[in-house]
Amino acid sequence: MHNLAVLISGNGSNLQAILDAVDNGDLPDARVALVVSNRKDAYGMQRAFKHGVPVVYFPKLPYTNANRPRADYDADLARIVQGFGVEWVVQAGWMHIFTDAFIRHFPNRIVNLHPALPGMFPGAHAIEEAYAAYQRGEIDHTGVMVHLVPDEAVDAGPVVAQMEIPILPEDSLEDLEKRIHAAEHTLLISALRNLITH
Ligand code: GRF
Repeated sequence: MHNLAVLISGNGSNLQAILDAVDNGDLPDARVALVVSNRKDAYGMQRAFKHGVPVVYFPKLPYTNANRPRADYDADLARIVQGFGVEWVVQAGWMHIFTDAFIRHFPNRIVNLHPALPGMFPGAHAIEEAYAAYQRGEIDHTGVMVHLVPDEAVDAGPVVAQMEIPILPEDSLEDLEKRIHAAEHTLLISALRNLITH
């Protein structure tokens, strides 16, 4: 059985996709052993509670207030995640850039989902930036990708899966976001299935 930890900071629709995939057999031999949120108001924690999955709320503020370095937060979180026997760490809307103090504990086992194509729009505003670039006539499509996180580079690790997403002239930003999130849910599950079972 492969234990996953899913790290979230918000809505958790990708977490929900993973939970549903485990339930309907689309992720054989995998289970979500732990959900971690760094945001108290992340709705994804409710999704985990409903599903009976252990949840750890682990904010960085106490470390910041105590002038403790990011590496302390990251090392402590790694120990907590290891304590749940986790093999794969899935960053699904996780708004925190890990230092090597976390990464080194899960070599080649950290997966990140990013709503842009490789090398395009790194960071927390990828969809808005793609939408604006389309309006400026700079791109005619965008995409989503799943990649490994071997180091501290942001949204730039070895790509495991990617999918192009069309942008239509009549699209509002919300239309594009909806299309992207729907694509993410399927891409993430197929990428995880390939990673875990090979
Ligand atoms: C997703 O678009 C993910 O790629 C990005 O943040 C969003 C999280 O969405 N990093 P959700 O919380 O899984 O609904």
